[in-house]
Amino acid sequence: MTQAANTMWGGRFAAGPDAIMEAINASIGFDQRLAAQDIAGSRAHAAMLAATGIISSTDADAIGKGLLTILSEIEKGEFAFSTALEDIHMNVEARLRDLIGEPAGRLHTARSRNDQVAVDFRLWVRDQCDAADAALLALQTALLGQAEAGADWVMPGFTHLQVAQPVTWGHHMLAYVEMLGRDRSRFADARRRMNLSPLGAAALAGTSFPIDREMTAKALGFDGPMANSLDAVSDRDFALEFLAASSICAMHLSRLAEELVIWSSAQFRFVKMSDKWSTGSSIMPQKRNPDAAELIRAKIGRIFGANVALMTVMKGLPLTYSKDMQEDKEQVFDAADNLLLALAAMAGMVGDMTANRESLKAAAATGFSTATDLADWLVRELGLPFRDAHHVTGSLVALAEAKGEDLPDLTLEEMQGVHEGITQSVFDVLGVENSVASRMSIGGTAPARVREQVAAWKERLK
Ligand code: ARG
Repeated sequence: MTQAANTMWGGRFAAGPDAIMEAINASIGFDQRLAAQDIAGSRAHAAMLAATGIISSTDADAIGKGLLTILSEIEKGEFAFSTALEDIHMNVEARLRDLIGEPAGRLHTARSRNDQVAVDFRLWVRDQCDAADAALLALQTALLGQAEAGADWVMPGFTHLQVAQPVTWGHHMLAYVEMLGRDRSRFADARRRMNLSPLGAAALAGTSFPIDREMTAKALGFDGPMANSLDAVSDRDFALEFLAASSICAMHLSRLAEELVIWSSAQFRFVKMSDKWSTGSSIMPQKRNPDAAELIRAKIGRIFGANVALMTVMKGLPLTYSKDMQEDKEQVFDAADNLLLALAAMAGMVGDMTANRESLKAAAATGFSTATDLADWLVRELGLPFRDAHHVTGSLVALAEAKGEDLPDLTLEEMQGVHEGITQSVFDVLGVENSVASRMSIGGTAPARVREQVAAWKERLK
């Protein structure tokens, strides 16, 4: 049996679409998430049509009321979405016609689904920038709590995942606070740039009706209308900027997740995850697995994937709108959902984890971690050029290693055997506490510097 032609655009069609055509064409399965934005956009549009005399205020009132009824039906889960009606825009409009009759047909004056979907999606992505900002703030706050508690706890700093120099726990936590601060500024930047309204671009060329684009822009919280109607309906760079900012943020989360996986292992024992953020094994009773950290590390793949997918969808499209662009939404929805989930899980994990101060300190003293302090001492006290000091220190490390000892375990005589000028005071710089305390340069790991930064961040996060 042939289906009837579409009631919204079927004027020139004798028959409806094939079932598979309907399936590939429909977006209502996912774009129903834009319902609130679609209704907000339509309400602003209807009010503007009345203010400019394009439709009567009686019709605009009926439209506005009908739209609010539809919003509450959707919120209550009472709305019957129809695939035959393709997308959220036509589902809402068809229901409006059921509710208020003829005036519903006037809502789409001076508008197209092309500017409609562009405005809906911008509003949705704009909200996600705000949600990401709030979630990042919560994670920064959790990290800052850790940094404050352990401003002077010594731990190994790594390069190449080899012990490099002692650092402080607080300093390590603050490194992520900095990264997340830049993530927040990327979302804020993207939000600022996307905050212009495409509404009124109509299909692509603008409209012959005397619309007021400033008015709708203002009603929807935009800074103003987009200047070029072709651009307004055809670019999705705002969504791509959101995905790019999300990808960088996700990369930061993944690095932290990776550290938590390593740090919670029996080999490291730097941190203990709380029970709330750990899982057991069904066969090995002793296990305590950092599943949330692993899942965060893995979920990032979907976010990178969404970024690449949408770039690929967009890269070959001639101006202006093509139906390809309907494929923008699921990628962004999935990326946003998973980013927010990952941020919330990370904030919970970091807030509840306990650092093992003793393990951190013991590990800090391994791997000749104060060798640089020794070389610096040779420069400062004996006036050696740094390259020579580096060489002497290398010989001392080799000596300690051959004896199976650490640098502070060597005797003064053994040291003087390598360089006769060395004196007892060298031992002052070989301890990890002294090592970190001496790193007072701006941005350095000294507890005093860390405390300054904690105070500065507390002020900034207020
Ligand atoms: N569902 C469509 C989308 O998401 C809405 C725009 C349809 N526009 C059109 N000219 N067919 O892109």
